[in-house]
Amino acid sequence: MDTPTVLIIIGITGDLSKRKLLPAIGDMAAAGVLPKQFRIIGITRQHTVTLSSVLEGVRNAELIRENMTVFPMSLADAADYERLRSHLHVISQPWGEDAQLLWYLAVPPTTAWPIIEQLGRSGLSRLQNTKLLLEKPFGIDRASAEELIAHVERSFTTQQVYRIDHYLAKETVQNIVVFRQDNSLFERTWNRDAIERIDILASETIGIEGRVAFYEQTGALRDLVQSHLLQLAALTLMTLPPDGKLERIPEARRALLGTLTVDLGSIKRGQYADYRRTVANPASMVETFVSLTLFSTDTRWQGVPITLTTGKALSEKKTDIVVTYRHNGAPQQNRLTLRLQPNEGVELCFFAKRPGYDRTIERVPLAFTYADHFDALPDAYGRVVLDALRGDHTLFASSGEVLESWRIVDAVRKSWELNADTLMVYPRGAAPEQVLRKNPRD
Ligand code: BG6
Repeated sequence: MDTPTVLIIIGITGDLSKRKLLPAIGDMAAAGVLPKQFRIIGITRQHTVTLSSVLEGVRNAELIRENMTVFPMSLADAADYERLRSHLHVISQPWGEDAQLLWYLAVPPTTAWPIIEQLGRSGLSRLQNTKLLLEKPFGIDRASAEELIAHVERSFTTQQVYRIDHYLAKETVQNIVVFRQDNSLFERTWNRDAIERIDILASETIGIEGRVAFYEQTGALRDLVQSHLLQLAALTLMTLPPDGKLERIPEARRALLGTLTVDLGSIKRGQYADYRRTVANPASMVETFVSLTLFSTDTRWQGVPITLTTGKALSEKKTDIVVTYRHNGAPQQNRLTLRLQPNEGVELCFFAKRPGYDRTIERVPLAFTYADHFDALPDAYGRVVLDALRGDHTLFASSGEVLESWRIVDAVRKSWELNADTLMVYPRGAAPEQVLRKNPRD
């Protein structure tokens, strides 16, 4: 990948740029995977911000510094977009016609909306080789997602747009497809005949510290289920594209999402005990925990419950996919765990005879961990930037996927409107199973 590139990050002083994006770019520079001709322009509204303050504490900052500038501007002022256009021209013109412009909107959706409009109105969106990277949330429900998609498409074509779901870019999540595609042993039994249930869990120890306004409007369902967890379900259950064609994966994920419906009776929602105090809203009904079971109409999966569970302020940080196999005549059940983070790996629970004179069967693990076999895993954000540079849409969420996910989430929200009294309160540090055992009025 050696296309000369200008990466324009809008929101360079924000948390996302500092914690995720710039360190990931630093790592890419260290790994030598950035284009030879590469510039970063960090956009900020604040005129006092300096390059040194932006890069302070960022990993490998010294490798980025000389290729980066900070560009203060008003994001509402058309004249400033003209100034920026001239600046971009000065940088990219010597690189010739191939040079690409990658706009990364590292800002909340309400800020992103008018910026997208300005990029369209100023003609910047139509410059040759221009791409747009967008962060979630993509709307707050299906209707608003449709509006957002239409809004973006007034300025950019579908091919120009990359919707980030950083879970899709995690190394272990990419491995779900490899695990299925390249291990025929498992793919042959990847169906309702062999599998009894699938449980996808993303538990976090952190609360919502520092993200009060965002979280009060979002909640666990919109934050984690609409995006990451439904994508994990899609990758696990989708029909693999024929001939291993990776570019068809977004369509395969969308098609699978289209087969899912929620079992409304299965939904559990909870809120950790001091949440209302943290957000200074004694009446907040925002869920920090949610669990729900889905069923697919795909003949391969009919009748197999797929349970998604996520929560904040729980006992451990853990994301995994557990596939429980049917007894199929055996006294015990095999269980396959794809551990996405931490302690990344794959584990198969199977059974062995305990050595000795009697016949005692014991559950034993067959385990693979990344740490034992490979070097450190690259960060998901590096992969996001690299794939956008390469023009590869495989690890990004298409508009069709976003809309299918909202269809599912909207059904859950509607059921909550009808049954307001279903919020459980759980103590910080509770295990997910503990929360699931609670009743709303406990
Ligand atoms: C983000 C959510 O998309 O994912 C956060 O907005 C959540 O609430 C985060 O904490 C989890 O990501 P990771 O990579 O730490 O599992």
